[in-house]
Amino acid sequence: MHIDFSTAKGRSSYRFLVGAIAPRPIALVSTIDAAGQRNLAPFSYFNLMSAAPPVAVFSVTQPADRAKKDTLTNVLASGEAVIHIVSHAIVERMNLASVAYPNGVDEFARTGFTPVPSLQVQPPRVAEASIAFECTLIQSIPLGTARGAGTLVICQIRVMHIDDRVLTADSMSIDPQALDAVARMGDDWYCRASGPAVFSLPRIHSDRAVGVDGLPAALHSCGEWSSEELARLALAEELPSSDEVNEFRSGHRLATRQTLAAIARQHLAHFDVRSALLAAICASQAAAEQSCVTI
Ligand SMILES: Cc1cc2nc3c(=O)[nH]c(=O)nc-3n(C[C@H](O)[C@H](O)[C@H](O)COP(=O)(O)O)c2cc1C
Repeated sequence: MHIDFSTAKGRSSYRFLVGAIAPRPIALVSTIDAAGQRNLAPFSYFNLMSAAPPVAVFSVTQPADRAKKDTLTNVLASGEAVIHIVSHAIVERMNLASVAYPNGVDEFARTGFTPVPSLQVQPPRVAEASIAFECTLIQSIPLGTARGAGTLVICQIRVMHIDDRVLTADSMSIDPQALDAVARMGDDWYCRASGPAVFSLPRIHSDRAVGVDGLPAALHSCGEWSSEELARLALAEELPSSDEVNEFRSGHRLATRQTLAAIARQHLAHFDVRSALLAAICASQAAAEQSCVTI
């Protein structure tokens, strides 16, 4: 199927959009109104847009029953908000904070979260959240007027609070297992960014890679390698020379195609893509020779 947004109905396309653009991190946003009354609500139209300057955005949609959600009214009036990352330990209280309480209800009291004074902005932060960002409003951009239309809120991060317990041992970054962040998916689905759901994929700091189209044709045609394996092999900065291939093969004269492929996969698992490519090329050569013998 496909959805043409010039004819699609808003409500049904919403479910496909939020189901597809997922998982989304959740901002638990603390604001205060003109009378100093606290407000807290979650928003999953949320992300980091810049690191220097540090800028985060979230989007507040147009409700059916009132002119604006309280968070938007407050952030536009005060120009301040505190954004918290939702971890699994606070997910039920985050959900409780999403109740459309009447204007003026203190969601800190309703949810049982503890307010702590912020350093540079008026809205308090949530003591129970491992990460909090004190923010000031840069700009708000209304994206439409229909129900469900968002107003994009662009915030400059002034101060970041990090609970020491979510830091890595060297205190140089955030440990995802300790943070145990929760993200929103479609319908009532959430996911938890910890345990086996978290994996690492080393970032490539090179300005060249042979690319899938630069791999020897035999690697594509031998049927041994999945598209994802080819993509990792393609990270090699250059193809091995024929001397290197010949040397490797003579050092593994008795190795079968399967053994050579297993060696390549071992190197791939350890991200030694150069050695993996050498073994994979030899495996594909062995495969070609085997098929010649069979014929
Ligand atoms: C996990 C989660 C994510 C949400 N994301 C958004 C969002 O991105 N934008 C939005 O307008 N409402 C979102 N909501 C709904 C608001 O939290 C809800 O409308 C809330 O009552 C707004 O509170 P306020 O009127 O105090 O601002 C979300 C709710 C939940 C539970």
